[in-house]
Amino acid sequence: MRASASRGSRPRPARVRSLRRRAPSSTPCARRRPIARLLEIGGSHGYSAIWLAAAARILGGRVVSLEIDPDRAETWRANVAEAGLSDWAGVIVGDALETLPAIDDVFDVVFLDAEKELYESLFRIARTKLETGALVVADNVLSHVATLGAYSAARQADPTCVSVTVPLDRGLELTSVLIDPLL
Ligand SMILES: C[S@@+](CC[C@H](N)C(=O)[O-])C[C@H]1O[C@@H](n2cnc3c(N)ncnc32)[C@H](O)[C@@H]1O
Repeated sequence: MRASASRGSRPRPARVRSLRRRAPSSTPCARRRPIARLLEIGGSHGYSAIWLAAAARILGGRVVSLEIDPDRAETWRANVAEAGLSDWAGVIVGDALETLPAIDDVFDVVFLDAEKELYESLFRIARTKLETGALVVADNVLSHVATLGAYSAARQADPTCVSVTVPLDRGLELTSVLIDPLL
């Protein structure tokens, strides 16, 4: 008790005090990011979309989810609505190979969770909508390593990205974009 009381009353170094005074208004890292643009490819019934939309609600942003099956998309809408998150997420029904190229937007995070055979093609389309610092999370790369091993290898060999396989659950390939394709 006495020790913590004396630690609490010890004066802080001047440098720390001056940084604290400046931080809220002048350091870039203290500024709130304006929006988080999130893309999910393979929306299914909305389970992951609910987590992503909850993040978008906090950060300020929006989730776009792509789902080929109209019945699943209907359930997606109902589940996201029940979670109270419809203002932060929407689903586009159709084949992502067709709907994704038609989206005129850029994204900060992509969750790739559709047909495993399509990951490479979908990544290539999504890549045109990613700026430096964007993150692509591809699911199932270890549970479907026979199909997705080539996807992980391609990302890790790509000098415009940095990519790592994370042995979490069914395996995630986390790929961060180093070079903006629009530059
Ligand atoms: C593993 S589930 C997605 C699960 C969802 N991300 C979640 O965690 O809640 C894969 C989904 O991708 C959808 N899908 C498969 N191929 C697709 C395509 N070409 N375009 C859009 N959606 C596709 C399937 O209909 C299925 O609902």
